[in-house]
Amino acid sequence: MTALSLANAAYLVAALLFILSLAGLSKHETARRGVAFGIAGMAIALVATFILVAKSEPGIGLVLLIVAMVIGAAIGLWRARIVEMTGMPELIALLHSFVGLAAVLVGWNGYLEYRDEPNDLPGDAGTLLDIHNAEVFIGVFIGAVTLTGSIVAYLKLSAKMKSAPLVLPGKNWINLGALVLFVALTIWFVVSPALWLLILVTVVALALGWHLVASIGGGDMPVVVSMLNSYSGWAAAASGFLLGNDLLIITGALVGSSGAYLSYIMCKAMNRSFISVIAGGFGIEAGPSDDTDYGEHREITAESAAELLAGAKSVVITPGYGMAVAQAQYPVADLTARLREKGVDVRFGIHPVAGRLPGHMNVLLAEAKVPYDIVLEMDEINDDLAETDVVLVIGANDTVNPAAAEDPTSPIAGMPVLHVWEAKHVIVFKRSMAAGYAGVQNPLFFRENSQMLFGDAKDRVEDIIKAL
Ligand code: TAP
Repeated sequence: MTALSLANAAYLVAALLFILSLAGLSKHETARRGVAFGIAGMAIALVATFILVAKSEPGIGLVLLIVAMVIGAAIGLWRARIVEMTGMPELIALLHSFVGLAAVLVGWNGYLEYRDEPNDLPGDAGTLLDIHNAEVFIGVFIGAVTLTGSIVAYLKLSAKMKSAPLVLPGKNWINLGALVLFVALTIWFVVSPALWLLILVTVVALALGWHLVASIGGGDMPVVVSMLNSYSGWAAAASGFLLGNDLLIITGALVGSSGAYLSYIMCKAMNRSFISVIAGGFGIEAGPSDDTDYGEHREITAESAAELLAGAKSVVITPGYGMAVAQAQYPVADLTARLREKGVDVRFGIHPVAGRLPGHMNVLLAEAKVPYDIVLEMDEINDDLAETDVVLVIGANDTVNPAAAEDPTSPIAGMPVLHVWEAKHVIVFKRSMAAGYAGVQNPLFFRENSQMLFGDAKDRVEDIIKAL
């Protein structure tokens, strides 16, 4: 068996493992197995690539590959060790930018390699060259949009850039114009592959990626991150075509389509259409400075909260981003176990975009060993909230905002939320009266049945455990 056929067989196995990995990751119970499949697939792919390069480019090619792998592995291990769970979205955004950059470089290389010697292309050079040029152009375009779009997403998520949307006059026309220009330039490039056209499309795509994400407001960032995830997949698939690498095509298509599907699920969870996310606008809201008078809020102490919980039959906990910031999942798991020992029915209600990345709360609760069967999705628990004695809102804000359901003028109007206000008592754990991620005031805090328990969520939950 030649090294090439061995590597192709290994690539096929790796592709199957990636598919199994995605399937595994779709459920809590099988997520660990899914990750293991993914690691195995990636290890096989790396070894196969290594063998291929060692056979075909035993000199400088192999040295470059080893240097790149050592540097990449060292940076990857270092970042993965120090990254906080709350910093994951921005890290992911940054990683997407690398995929975009790689696609741009592969595209440029693909162009320069055959520019002067088109007959070097295997097969019928004429038609193949047209296809090759289209691949180069499309790959560079998607890659460059992903590159700058992801950098802006990273800057916004890490608060290095304001999360408010950039509103240029006629911004949707700018985006549309750039797309039309791209289609026209692609046709031109296929007919006459001039270097200046490739330079022009690179500049247009870099500017489009920047503008596209800069004009999207903070509240829509989760959708943007998964959209960029999808773009990075398509960019990788385009590189796969250029390099003639089947595994890259399959993996790119998997990432591209799963990212697109995730964007769709999140749009549904926020009751937004994909087009309206791209067209932007969410996040320009008046913010907490809006002058509606919601009345006074009431406060509760940890001791009184403990009393309320001890006397309750049913308790629902709705965690949000603040639970992640405070790392309160361990005391929350402890509190849950103690209440369950006392015979209280405790369940969790998880909003699909609670926290800062899909599945954020599920990961934290699983980490703290909260049993899966009491962790329910928003749709599974919403109807039960009216019969619930006490809801503990731990560091959640936008995801429990009644304005989304009741105020059509609210910037988050129509976003499905957890109807916690229907419960008998609501205790809100947060440090201040500040707004949540979308920057919108939350009328829940001023309801008759709501009480605020101020302070760091971890400290307050520990206080309740002590008082219990
Ligand atoms: P948010 O609306 O972000 O609110 C979190 C709340 O936690 C804040 O009001 C904050 O209030 C409180 N908090 C922060 N640190 C705390 C601490 N140490 N102890 C106690 N409370 C603390 O949270 P959410 O309800 O989870 O909503 C998520 C939001 O993020 C949505 O708007 C969503 O669209 C967006 N988003 C989601 C994702 C994904 S995919 N999940 C990704 C990016 C953005 P204080 O400052 O007063 O303490």
